[in-house]
Amino acid sequence: MTDTNVKANMERVVLIQGASRGIGLQFVRELAQRPDTAKIFATCRRPGDAAELSALAEHYSNIDILTLDVAQETSVAAAAETLAARTDHIDLLINTAGLLHTDSQQPERRLREVNADALRSSFEVNAIGPILMARYFEPFLFRSSHAVFASLSARVGSIGDNRLGGWYAYRASKAAQNMFTRTLAIEWARRTQPVICLALHPGTVDTDLSRPFQKNVTAEKLFSVERAVKQLMSIIDGASEKDTGRFIAWDGQDIPF
Ligand SMILES: NC(=O)c1ccc[n+]([C@@H]2O[C@H](COP(=O)([O-])OP(=O)(O)OC[C@H]3O[C@@H](n4cnc5c(N)ncnc54)[C@H](OP(=O)(O)O)[C@@H]3O)[C@@H](O)[C@H]2O)c1
Repeated sequence: MTDTNVKANMERVVLIQGASRGIGLQFVRELAQRPDTAKIFATCRRPGDAAELSALAEHYSNIDILTLDVAQETSVAAAAETLAARTDHIDLLINTAGLLHTDSQQPERRLREVNADALRSSFEVNAIGPILMARYFEPFLFRSSHAVFASLSARVGSIGDNRLGGWYAYRASKAAQNMFTRTLAIEWARRTQPVICLALHPGTVDTDLSRPFQKNVTAEKLFSVERAVKQLMSIIDGASEKDTGRFIAWDGQDIPF
């Protein structure tokens, strides 16, 4: 094998789903600078509004932005079709889009705050989105010789670890996401060249998602996006087939489902 072949085999084609802000944007920034990244497909629902992502794509020629609203199956399917004209495989797909609150939706503190619209939108983004990504992007992953499919989950989605209550929509949608990841890992492990599936908890990270809830978090427990992404990439880089189906925290510890 020539040096060029060795290098080509080490270079990863990556897809970051939910890349307009927060942790997803930082994955793009971090991976764009790595010598082992061949190409990054960065997806977001409104590329025209994603100023920081567009600026990154102007700076790094290996970033390609695609439109993908993870809450719309037709949008996920269309993005997969667009991608087919640009690559035959993906070595790493990371689902980062997540919904905890919006201007009109706050996490529930008690039962009477639960409503169907908020439950529905949380499930669409946090749970249904990642499994639709698997459904439509599966062929790209199985054309890689070592693919990882990772979804950002949250410790509060652990049923076994739930001692505080509250946040019904977010907790339940992340628990559903974890079940999808686990079920997918079992199916994909039966294939000749399995794709590794991971559910990852990033810790509390300083982004728009956590900002309203940071006041009781100590400085050392509040990670910058830079630190969070480095920690998650070290888990992803070290993952092998024996890790598939695990729910792993930023420090490598297993979280109970
Ligand atoms: N930050 C934390 O402390 C923390 C802790 C535990 C787990 N997590 C998980 O980590 C992930 C990333 O969180 P973050 O802190 O980076 O959140 P964030 O800063 O609020 O960013 C959320 C991202 O999700 C995207 N998104 C929302 N709905 C979407 C849709 N329908 N289609 C496509 N993209 C959509 C947003 O895009 P727009 O710009 O278009 O809105 C944005 O890029 C989430 O899954 C979250 O649950 C975060």
